[in-house]
Amino acid sequence: MLKDDALAGKTIVVTGGGTGLGKSMSRYFLELGANVVIASRKLSVLEKTAEELQASAVAAGSKAKILAFECDVRKYEEVEKTLAFTLENFGKVDGLLNNAAGNFISPTERLSHKAFDTIVGIVLQGSYNFTLAFGKHWIAEKQKATILNIVTTYAWTGSAFVVPSACAKAGVLAMTRSLAVEWAKYGIRSNAIAPGPFPTKGAWDRLFPPPLQEKLDAASNVPLKRVGEHQELANLAAYLMSDFSSYVNGEVITIDGGEWLNGAGEFNKMQILTPDMWDMIERAVRGSKE
Ligand code: HXC
Ligand code: NAP
Repeated sequence: MLKDDALAGKTIVVTGGGTGLGKSMSRYFLELGANVVIASRKLSVLEKTAEELQASAVAAGSKAKILAFECDVRKYEEVEKTLAFTLENFGKVDGLLNNAAGNFISPTERLSHKAFDTIVGIVLQGSYNFTLAFGKHWIAEKQKATILNIVTTYAWTGSAFVVPSACAKAGVLAMTRSLAVEWAKYGIRSNAIAPGPFPTKGAWDRLFPPPLQEKLDAASNVPLKRVGEHQELANLAAYLMSDFSSYVNGEVITIDGGEWLNGAGEFNKMQILTPDMWDMIERAVRGSKE
C-alpha cells in the first residue's frame, strides 16, 4: 500500500513478533525499510521468524535488518534489556508495537486467580511496561516516536468468555487515549488498532478449538462474510507507524469487516429477510395505519 521506502531509517520494536499478526506486520515494516526487533518468550521461534523475514526483505530489495530478542513482557527488567539491545544494535528506536497477548475462552467462574493474572499480565502489564520504558527513553532523548497498540473490538463492548482479555484490552485502550494527550507535547503519538477475526494459529487454537470450529464460523458474523487477511492489517499498521499518519493521535481504528456493528444494531438481524418477506412486512406495516 505504501511507497517502498515509507519506513526507511526507522527502527520498530514488535512484541510477539515471532508469530501470527506480529510476524505479518513485522514482515511489511521490513519490506518498507524499517529495522525491526521482535521480542517474546520463545527465542527459537523468534530466530526462525527473523531468518525467514530477513530473506523475504532481501528478496523485496530492502536493506533493513531484523533481530530477535528474548523477553517476557511482564518482566520490567527484560523490557529494559530489550530497549538496551535495540539501541546497541540500531542506535535509536522510533516505534513500539504492543502486540503480544495471551487469551483463551473460558467461563469466568472456572478461572483461577492465576489464570486471570496471566492474561492481564501479558496484555495490560506487558503493554504498560513497554510503553513506560520506551516513553521515559524518548522523553529523556527528546525524540519523536510512535506507539501502536493492538486491542480488539471487545475492548469497548466487553465480551463473555474472554473476560480477562476484555479487561486488559480496555486498559490498553484507556492508556492509548490518555497518553495521546499527555505525551503529545514530547512528539509521541499513541494509537491503537482493533482487529476483528484474522486467522492465526495462536488465536484459533485458543478461541475456536476444533469442537467449536464447525459450529462457530468466524466469518459468519462479519457483514463482508469473510475473515481478515494479514496484509490488510499490516497496511493499516504500517500507515499508523509511518509519518504519513503524523496528525493521527489517540485514535483506535477498527478493522473487522463491520463485525462489531453487526452485533450492535437493533435491526441488523433482518439481513436474513428475503424480498418476498419484505413484501409481506411492508403490507403489514402499511396496513397497520388503517
Ligand atoms: C482455564 C487456563 C487455561 C484454560 C491456562 N489456564 N489455560 N485456565 N482454561 N484453557 C490457567 C492455568 O491453569 C494457570 O492457572 C494459568 O492459566 C497460567 O497458565 P500457564 O499455562 O502456566 O501460563 P503461560 O505458560 O504463561 O501461558 C499463557 C497462556 C498461553 C495465555 C495460558 O495460552 C499462551 O502462552 N498464550 C500466548 C498466545 C496467545 O494466547 N495467543 C492468542 C491471542 S488471541 P493455575 O491456577 O492452574 O496455575 C487474542 C485475540 C482477541 O488475543 C480477539 C479475537 C477476535
Ligand atoms: P499469536 O500468534 O498467539 O501472538 C501472540 C504473541 O504474543 C506470540 O508471538 C507470543 O510469543 C507473544 N507472547 C505471549 N505471551 C508473552 C509474554 N509473556 N511475553 C512476550 N511475548 C508474549 O496471536 P495473534 O492472533 O497473532 O495475536 C496478535 C495480537 O492481535 C494480539 O494482541 C491479539 O490480542 C490481537 N488480536 C488478534 C485477533 C485475531 O483474530 N487473530 C483479533 C483481535 C486482536 P511467545 O509465545 O514466544 O512469548
